[in-house]
Amino acid sequence: MSQARVYLDNNATTQIAPEVLEEMLPFLRDKYGNPSSAYSFGGNLQKDLERARDRTAALFSCHPTEIVFTSCGTESDNFAIRGLVDAYPEKTHVILTKVEHPAVKNQAPYLRKKGLRVTEIGVDRQGRLDLAELAAAMDNETLLVSCMLANNETGVIFPLEEICRIAKEHGVFVHTDAVQAVGKIPLDFSRLPVDLAAFSGHKFHAPKGVGGLFVRRGLKIRPFLIGGHQERSRRGGTENLASIVGLGRAAELAAGRLGEEATRVRDLRDRLERGILRSIANSEVNGDPEHRVPNTTNVGIHFIEGEALLLALDKQGICASTGSACASGSLQPSHVLRAMGVPFTCVHGSLRFSLSTYTTPAEVDYVLETLPVIVGRLRELSPFRSLREIEAFGA
Ligand SMILES: Cc1ncc(COP(=O)(O)O)c(C=O)c1O
Repeated sequence: MSQARVYLDNNATTQIAPEVLEEMLPFLRDKYGNPSSAYSFGGNLQKDLERARDRTAALFSCHPTEIVFTSCGTESDNFAIRGLVDAYPEKTHVILTKVEHPAVKNQAPYLRKKGLRVTEIGVDRQGRLDLAELAAAMDNETLLVSCMLANNETGVIFPLEEICRIAKEHGVFVHTDAVQAVGKIPLDFSRLPVDLAAFSGHKFHAPKGVGGLFVRRGLKIRPFLIGGHQERSRRGGTENLASIVGLGRAAELAAGRLGEEATRVRDLRDRLERGILRSIANSEVNGDPEHRVPNTTNVGIHFIEGEALLLALDKQGICASTGSACASGSLQPSHVLRAMGVPFTCVHGSLRFSLSTYTTPAEVDYVLETLPVIVGRLRELSPFRSLREIEAFGA
């Protein structure tokens, strides 16, 4: 297959759906008024804003007034946690998990500096949360549990219903970072009793720079962005209307793709995963294979450097991702894989492929032709090679 680009990094970001772009364009060209203006050229746009809110709320089976539009998933996570902490100053304890995205995880130092206690709950080798540890961590001072719905690196889905049940027994609020779950699995906030849930447009074929927070009706929360009266005074700032309209359309498209289309994507993901495990020795799946979003696979390829693998894949036009980040010259293994106890021969060589509705069987086949050749070549050069030989001799 001659292929310009095979994009299998949809957990990083997604392409804007053509239908989404189409609906956005009038708001970038002619309909540039400010929805807060008194005259009709601006004020009439309120109805477009509210239509987008209705469409978004429909995806989550919640009331439109429970949706607050923001600039991104990171802002939504900050709004949720800081907004709740500021609304309940008498509570002094927050619980997170060890595998949260930096948008949540990196709030821990801020919270500690503010004088709060922060507990981070661990996961097992398959990335599953330790619910007994969670229950034991709650006490009278606990305000909030923040647990993601689906992990961005492994795709593992967390048992939010169970987490909510435990939290409610202790009178504790629940925030979920749902950024990687939206558009991949059905979400129904009329049944799932979370108090807050963050989402981000660019993860489900809306543009970058727009997201939102589900805030359950009646919940006391302080605004994070303090300013004008927009979003019922819960988030100041002139609305990014074109992108919000795009997000509304993307939510509608996502709702229509949760059935058969999700199964098609899952089948493609499984074909990719099976093919990799079959053709590459010493490879394994990281994360609970049963409870995962349908588009994600994280494959650990032992005795190899993930960064080298990514560069070689890039040369062949394939976009994927690794949990390692090259920070100040030293490779930092992913905090998620470390929390899972992935062995060091594998933690550096873990690759994440994340598919989308635009992924084709031919693209998957191209990866399956290309990846084993690259791995074979790199393993010959691998600094881990001697270790492999040591292991082969059983030392
Ligand atoms: C789980 C999770 N939470 C939050 C974010 C941040 O979203 P945004 O890029 O919209 O700020 C991401 C982005 O990768 C994510 O994967």
